[in-house]
Amino acid sequence: MSNQATGNRHQSTDPPVGAHIVRPPEAPVPVILRETAYGKLNLTLDVLGKRPDGYHDLEMVMCSVALSDELELTLGTGEAWSVVCDRMDLPQNEGNLCWKAARAYFDAAGLDPAGLRIALRKAIPAQAGMAGGSADAAAVLRALNRHYGLFSPEALREIGLRVGSDVPYCLFGGMALARGRGELLSRLPALPKGLCFVLAKPEFSVSTPALFRQLDAVGVTQRPDTPAMLRALEAGNAAEIGRQLANAFEPAVAADYPVVEQIRRVLLAKGALGARLTGTGSVVFGLFDDEDAARAAAAALAPLCPQAWTVAPVDN
Ligand code: C5P
Repeated sequence: MSNQATGNRHQSTDPPVGAHIVRPPEAPVPVILRETAYGKLNLTLDVLGKRPDGYHDLEMVMCSVALSDELELTLGTGEAWSVVCDRMDLPQNEGNLCWKAARAYFDAAGLDPAGLRIALRKAIPAQAGMAGGSADAAAVLRALNRHYGLFSPEALREIGLRVGSDVPYCLFGGMALARGRGELLSRLPALPKGLCFVLAKPEFSVSTPALFRQLDAVGVTQRPDTPAMLRALEAGNAAEIGRQLANAFEPAVAADYPVVEQIRRVLLAKGALGARLTGTGSVVFGLFDDEDAARAAAAALAPLCPQAWTVAPVDN
């Protein structure tokens, strides 16, 4: 009797009273988030002046376009952070704006994801004036905030501004007027239906800080008429929108790279309502109200630049 009782006690799975249960550490369950990052065009870009903090006050009419990168974030990998990008010439580490955006988010949130992997499939050209890196950074912030739900849109844009001047707009998206460093944003009417863009990417890239310095030295010679552009957008007047496209950086870039003017001439000859450099380049875009004409223009650009696309604007 007593032996049996002792054996029963030893077979019990209950811990002895007062014993401490030691379990193996829980493996984190990875969470996968997916997000799309759209490129942008500057329908206007004005440089108003240099600020005491070294940045410039800008005034820009911005438009998102359907040329996009795809991101996949894996949270809780249990491993060191990594960025894997299908373009080997872009940083695959903490130098990538995606990484900086994730760092900024987790610092602001006071959280540790227990490992992060960001896989990035690029379609937006780099060194193009289309805010490709900033769009990816914004996509990371959007994906993380959708998952954790910690910040208001305004607070998320503040985190974005720590990563780069174009990131707040990339979070905002669509048609917008951007002022200040680019973070003071207001919504603009969508472009009239049926408009599309041809994007041409010649093979050069310029240094944005160097171009700002050059503009400080020589002054702005191509100043957009921003109020006229806003009126044209309000009226939905496609021809006038085309006429009002303007970029303060274009004269300086076109002086160094004649291909800018050559591309503009082809786009205009093929029926563009207007054609301009976006950002500090090197993409030159044309605005079209006829998709067949746009495709013909993109094909006609082949001798001048290796890459051209026909894309639609992305609605607000
Ligand atoms: O903010 P972000 O790092 O994208 O800016 C890159 C560079 O562009 C800055 O170092 C600055 O030289 C210039 N810049 C500027 N004024 C702005 C935005 C950018 O002078 N509003």
